[in-house]
Amino acid sequence: MGYINMVDMRKDMECILFSEEDIQNIVNRVAAEIDRDYEGKKLLVVGVLKGSFIFMADLVRQMKNKCELEFMAVSSYGAGTTSSGQLAVKKDISTDLTGYDVLLIEDILDSGFTVSKVKEMLQQRNANSVKVCVFLDKKERRTVDIEGDYVGAVVPDAFVVGYGLDYAQLYRNLPYVGVLKKEIYEGK
Ligand code: IMP
Ligand code: MG
Repeated sequence: MGYINMVDMRKDMECILFSEEDIQNIVNRVAAEIDRDYEGKKLLVVGVLKGSFIFMADLVRQMKNKCELEFMAVSSYGAGTTSSGQLAVKKDISTDLTGYDVLLIEDILDSGFTVSKVKEMLQQRNANSVKVCVFLDKKERRTVDIEGDYVGAVVPDAFVVGYGLDYAQLYRNLPYVGVLKKEIYEGK
């Protein structure tokens, strides 16, 4: 894989899982669920960078309730496609969350390691509640006991990219979600 392939990312896809229209429907449904549950609450939406940024941007614009927005950056993955089992906080938010109902936004639940660690961290900061919203859920890969409170869609055990999700920092800007061809990352 080289930057030369950037001219046509579509040909690096095995198949398309969710079109732009599918994604719009997913986002509208999840936003409505969140609006229903957080009415009248002091909501803080916390996105985990970078994967969640496109989903979060679309999601909060479909929400009717007021909310504050924050971002955290953590890393549990290198350039490969499986979890390293290590989590480093690269950018944090305020340590005091008193009075807030926190909604953590992640691109995808895979092993569950990242979300469960970040959730644990936020729960120690006096928030009223901490819930999890993920765009995608790779359910069959879960090794940590964690579930999303709001889930966009369940996906099979394949490496997916687009709509914020990357492989080696590429493909995040695809407006749809696709399964990356194995040959792109095999032997890497
Ligand atoms: P976990 O800690 O194993 O749940 O991994 C979560 C993180 O791994 C996500 O935030 C993603 O950044 C990344 N990840 C897991 N599966 C995929 C995938 O299929 N495509 C792109 N990134 C993924
Ligand atoms: Mg990632």
